[in-house]
Amino acid sequence: MTEIKDLIKKAIEIKKRAYAPYSNFHVACVVMTKSGRIFEGVNIENAAYSPTLCAERNALSTAITEGEREFAYIVITGDSEYTYPCGVCRQFIREFADCDTKIIVARDPESYKTYRIDELLPESFSKKDLE
Ligand code: THU
Repeated sequence: MTEIKDLIKKAIEIKKRAYAPYSNFHVACVVMTKSGRIFEGVNIENAAYSPTLCAERNALSTAITEGEREFAYIVITGDSEYTYPCGVCRQFIREFADCDTKIIVARDPESYKTYRIDELLPESFSKKDLE
């Protein structure tokens, strides 16, 4: 699907903007909202380590700040063959992803894997628990 390939190309292109002087591991995330808007994020590390922000939470935070809540695609690419979202990011994604949201872990525009959030974070804690 061209749309997915374009999002992957964009993620690969922006990965070089990651600020990762400590791990030297670069990650990029491009999200597309259900309304078709695109937001980008890269990982941003910190000398104190724990304030490090992952690419996924960066991209989603920007989108949410712009008033978006619903996501069609969350595309992730990093320096490993397939870079999967960390546990914190899976929980963060859980807040906003529904069963239609495609989480795409991409090596290149031709090689990618697609998941739903319940596959990446089964039996999760969510806003439903708080109702
Ligand atoms: N990282 C991400 O940006 N996303 C993930 O889900 C996995 C890890 C970043 C954090 C840190 O800057 C580097 O990758 C190495 O852990």
